[in-house]
This record gives sequence, C-alpha cells and structure tokens, in this order.
Amino acid sequence: MMPELSMHIMDIMENGIAAGAWHLDLFIDIDTQNDTITITVVDNGKGMDTEMIGKAMDPLFSTKKGKGWGLGIPLFIQTAEACDGGFSIMSEKGSYTRVTVTMKLSHIDRPPLGNMTDTIISLIVGHPEIDLYVMVKKGKDKYEFDTRIVREIMGDIDLSTPQVLGALEEDIESGLAELQLND
Ligand SMILES: Nc1ncnc2c1ncn2[C@@H]1O[C@H](COP(=O)(O)OP(=O)(O)OP(=O)(O)O)[C@@H](O)[C@H]1O
Ligand SMILES: [Mg+2]
Repeated sequence: MMPELSMHIMDIMENGIAAGAWHLDLFIDIDTQNDTITITVVDNGKGMDTEMIGKAMDPLFSTKKGKGWGLGIPLFIQTAEACDGGFSIMSEKGSYTRVTVTMKLSHIDRPPLGNMTDTIISLIVGHPEIDLYVMVKKGKDKYEFDTRIVREIMGDIDLSTPQVLGALEEDIESGLAELQLND
C-alpha cells in the first residue's frame, strides 16, 4: 500500500538517482480551476529507449540487482488511473527522463500529497551532492526550492549536516505552509 503521493514521488526521484542523475526537477501543479494535480519529475540520468520505457511500466521488470520485479512505476500508474488521470514517460537514452502523472484533484480515491517537506529533506539526506529543484504551484501562488541557490548563498557546503538540514526544513515547511495545500 502507498497511501500518499509523496511516497510515489520519492520512488520516481529515486529511479532517476539510480539511473545516475545528478540533477532532478520536481514540479507539482495543483490546478483548482481545472480540478487536476500534475506531478512531473525530470532527471538527467541515463534515460531509456522506447522499448525500455515499455518495460519500465511492466511490474515484472526491474534492472535492480537481485530483483525480478519493479513496482514503483506500475503502482503510480495504478493510482493515477484510479483517479481519472494518466501517466506518461518521455525519455532519451543517455540524456534525460521525464515522468508526468495527472489525477483529478477532487477524486475521492486520490491519495493525499503527504509530507513533502520530509520527502525533500530525506532525498537531500540520502543524496546531498545532487542538484534538486522543486516547484510547487497552486493557482497563482508558488513555492520554489533550489539546492543550487542554497549553495550559492551558503557556499559549497555539505547539505546533509544537521544545522543546514534544520534551516532547509524550516524554509521548505514555511514555504509550503503558505500555499495551504491542506491535504
Ligand atoms: N528515471 C529513470 N531513468 C532510467 N531508467 C528508469 C527510470 N525509472 C525507471 N527506470 C527503469 O525502469 C525500471 C522499473 O522502475 P520501477 O520504479 O517500476 O521499479 P524499480 O525501481 O526497479 O523497483 P522498485 O521501484 O519497486 O523499488 C527500473 O528498474 C529501471 O530499469
Ligand atoms: Mg523504482
């Protein structure tokens, strides 16, 4: 069971890191007018050709060592389709992968977004060296977070030290609170 969208998002971002990405973009667009939520993750990892994309959507396929199955993508597809939404992967071998998921925002089965602050922080803790850009948009309001800007301001520091993490957590928490995601 994956009761929250943040867990699906984490899996998609981890896929990018497993594919060798050092830059990740995460866009979350909450469109109350059109009643949709759209989640996009772009990574600059090794990418996939068309055949691989098809396989990635198959629950019986994984390139993880010692694992005969990979459920991250199929579970997210299942969630999206159950919520009047869709799932798409665009990718180019040796270049990038873009995963886009949409859902009907007000669908009764749509899982809550979950704790995005924790999700972003745990990604940084696990992979402090990567560049991460996050944009959460709700109507006219948006919150942006960019590790490159953090490094510009704080110097080329280790983002996984407790002091830095504490400061980042506060910034993300208050930035997201202003959007009143309330779900
Ligand atoms: N961003 C990506 N870049 C390159 N290959 C990818 C990417 N995302 C998925 N894949 C390929 O698709 C496969 C299936 O991904 P999926 O998330 O469904 O399962 P998994 O990551 O292998 O296992 P699990 O998510 O269950 O731990 C991966 O093993 C990988 O080969
Ligand atoms: Mg996965």
